[in-house]
Amino acid sequence: MSETTLVLIKPGGVQRNLIGEITRRIEARGLKVAGLKLIVADRATVEEHYSEHRERPFFKDVCDYLTSGPIVAMAVSGTNAVKAIRTMMGATNPLEATPGTVRGDFALTIDDNLTHSSSDPEAAARELGLWFSEGLPS
Ligand code: CMP
Repeated sequence: MSETTLVLIKPGGVQRNLIGEITRRIEARGLKVAGLKLIVADRATVEEHYSEHRERPFFKDVCDYLTSGPIVAMAVSGTNAVKAIRTMMGATNPLEATPGTVRGDFALTIDDNLTHSSSDPEAAARELGLWFSEGLPS
């Protein structure tokens, strides 16, 4: 089933010049980049994005981090895109991420795990509406 999901490349990924590598992997898999922008996110958007984690001890740190520098927001479309992207990025904790995944190949700590990707189709719809409120180019 064709789906569209959200990928964020976090500040560490942008600083480490990994935009191209991560996007290359997504395209090589056969998925389409349906929307793409480099932005400095405002705090309200990031807090809304991570609202499910509002009571977690890492909430402030993750919001500080996401607003600390440019990030890439990307909409990715294709067959089973939500699950395909989650699998490609690897486990949230890079120490548990399999080699061959983005985190398993390029990350070491959970605080700087390089990317965020939507967990399920409902989260994808909500997150795409937040980060691409203007809609996707057709
Ligand atoms: P992400 O997929 O963007 O979703 C929430 C982020 O919070 C997560 O990736 C991590 O970068 C960060 N984080 C920090 N500590 C934790 C934790 N203990 N559990 C889950 N996420 C954490």
